[in-house]
Amino acid sequence: MSSGDEHGLRRFTRREVLLTGASGVGMIAVGGYGISRVLGDSHDGADYVLRPAPATVELGARTAQTWSYNGGLPAPELRAKQGERFRVRVENGLPEETSIHWHGVRLANPMDGVPGTTQQPILSGRKFLYDFVPPDAGTFFFHPHVGTQLDRGLYGALIVEPRNETLSYDREATLVLDDWLDGLDGRSPDKQLAELEKKGMQMGAMSGMDMSGMARMGKAHKSSGDMVHLDLDRMKPAAGTLPKLANLLESGAADAGDVKYPLHLINGHPPGDPFGIEVSSGERLRLRLVNAASDTIYCFYVQDHPLTVVASDGQEVDPRLTDAVVLGMGERADVMLDAAKPGAYRVIASALGKNARAEAVLRYSQTPRSSVPAATAMMQKTRIVSYSDLRDQSGAEPLRKPREIRVDLDMDMRAPYRWTMGGQAFPKADPIRAERGERLRFVVRNLTMMPHPMHVHGHFFRLASGDGTGARKDTILVAPKQSVKLDLVADNPGRWMFHCHNLYHQMAGMMRVLEIGA
Ligand code: C2O
Ligand code: CU
Repeated sequence: MSSGDEHGLRRFTRREVLLTGASGVGMIAVGGYGISRVLGDSHDGADYVLRPAPATVELGARTAQTWSYNGGLPAPELRAKQGERFRVRVENGLPEETSIHWHGVRLANPMDGVPGTTQQPILSGRKFLYDFVPPDAGTFFFHPHVGTQLDRGLYGALIVEPRNETLSYDREATLVLDDWLDGLDGRSPDKQLAELEKKGMQMGAMSGMDMSGMARMGKAHKSSGDMVHLDLDRMKPAAGTLPKLANLLESGAADAGDVKYPLHLINGHPPGDPFGIEVSSGERLRLRLVNAASDTIYCFYVQDHPLTVVASDGQEVDPRLTDAVVLGMGERADVMLDAAKPGAYRVIASALGKNARAEAVLRYSQTPRSSVPAATAMMQKTRIVSYSDLRDQSGAEPLRKPREIRVDLDMDMRAPYRWTMGGQAFPKADPIRAERGERLRFVVRNLTMMPHPMHVHGHFFRLASGDGTGARKDTILVAPKQSVKLDLVADNPGRWMFHCHNLYHQMAGMMRVLEIGA
């Protein structure tokens, strides 16, 4: 990772060229990217057109055949306004059906993008207009809710701009993190799933370890002295917290995932050809982080720059200073970075427990192109913010007298690869029923050795622990052998998926429907 020239900034390349397409589409620059925005002469009034289709993407020195939106990777960043109508036309150029799920958005159920549950699938060659009003501002995420399509190139960020911006910053950049296998070495997500279903999870295959990795793992089980992640008080972290989870995964004492990926990407760029973020000294930079991976939890940090977390899953929290942020699949975080040390720095998303990373470069203007970030970037004694450190800013009241619903997360040992929620594996699973307005408390117990990023559609929940004023979230990591209590008001009628955002777990049954009466 010493390739000097390759650290040059290439922010606009593929996107500018490829994001046009449908007639009536023009280009405007938003946040530094060229984006196809419909100019208003289309009869359906769409703000954007997304065209999922087969594409060839460059991943550094490699080329991969995949499926992507509008030929780019990630998809063009979409911008909506809080409380205003937002329309996206999808033109399906894939050889199979698709949909788009607007992850984290509390929209009306028919627009939630889950074929078989909220809409008919968008067939190959057909169109569909998503039309909704996003009630909340923040950093969101979109992807298909069909098969393993998410683990191809079909994902992007949706930014909902607030009616009034309360945060102050000089610049922003969205960084979408992803684990990549599609089209490399003859692999595809469908083949990967078929393999898991046939052979089941195997030690070694589980976290992509070879025999020496296994030996290291055996050792790590005995010692606990190599812990490097601390809580915000610089203390050894408590069980169930994110710094503790990071240590467990890094030491091999818990399983990081089921799939080994040849590449990890930030905004479609592998470490050998990193995405560049430019700042000027004295500026405050807002980074919008999205974990779009299918099987990878990332620990995100920037060399020599602490981060201030200002939002989790798009929703504002009291600012907390940290060294690093852990993000499960489907989670987002907004962090502020104060640019005060001119130079070039590595921006790292370490794939926890997988001995791999995604990288970008933070470069101050006036820094010569030739200056390359120092190679040593593994931070010792990293402070990691945990869920319990985050206080919600909306002033929402803690939930009183909720109805408890137990949801155990487990593996079904009678099948090689089947994951269950409450003892059932989707689609052979009953809906969880609630009345409109009902206050629910999901008691989620993880009985497995793997973390599960649990996601609920169409709602926010918050941790019931502490004083009940924690961050409002839609996705949360439940650590191995730990349980969490998630409080939620069932105020959005319809049929909403509740699932693990590990795509392979979701495909193998770890999903239920939450059915809320009208
Ligand atoms: Cu990104 Cu069902 O979710
Ligand atoms: Cu899972």
